[in-house]
Amino acid sequence: MGFREVKAEELSINPFTLIGKEWLLITAGTENAFNTMTASWGGLGVFWNKNAATIYVRPTRYTRKFVDDNDTFTISFYKEEYRKALALCGKVSGRDVNKVEQAGLTPVFEDNATYFEEAG
Ligand SMILES: Cc1cc2nc3c(=O)[nH]c(=O)nc-3n(C[C@H](O)[C@H](O)[C@H](O)COP(=O)(O)O)c2cc1C
Repeated sequence: MGFREVKAEELSINPFTLIGKEWLLITAGTENAFNTMTASWGGLGVFWNKNAATIYVRPTRYTRKFVDDNDTFTISFYKEEYRKALALCGKVSGRDVNKVEQAGLTPVFEDNATYFEEAG
């Protein structure tokens, strides 16, 4: 599946629904080592004239180390059919299981960042 660039100004989304109700995946790391987790806390907005995404990741999450140790992270959004996959990624830890494989997600590695082919 191909991705195309969309300017932030062209997005017509409701961040309250998108983040709070539909959830997202926070993913950080590269092909060598990465992790992902489900999130429903966060924001999309503007900070010092720059478009900004804000996430809140508890220190206990395995994903936290990948976010802290890398310059980039991705947030990605999914259609309702992936709800179970997101529920799984929000329940188990990458410390213990290969949840990406269990969730049936296909990682894409690009620009020192990782996201999933199934993302919208
Ligand atoms: C719907 C949902 C939303 C969540 N939102 C967050 C969040 O915004 N921040 C956070 O730290 N944990 C959040 N969690 C919990 C983590 O996704 C969960 O602890 C996950 O297993 C962490 O995985 P990891 O240890 O592989 O990083 C959420 C869980 C669910 C199910």
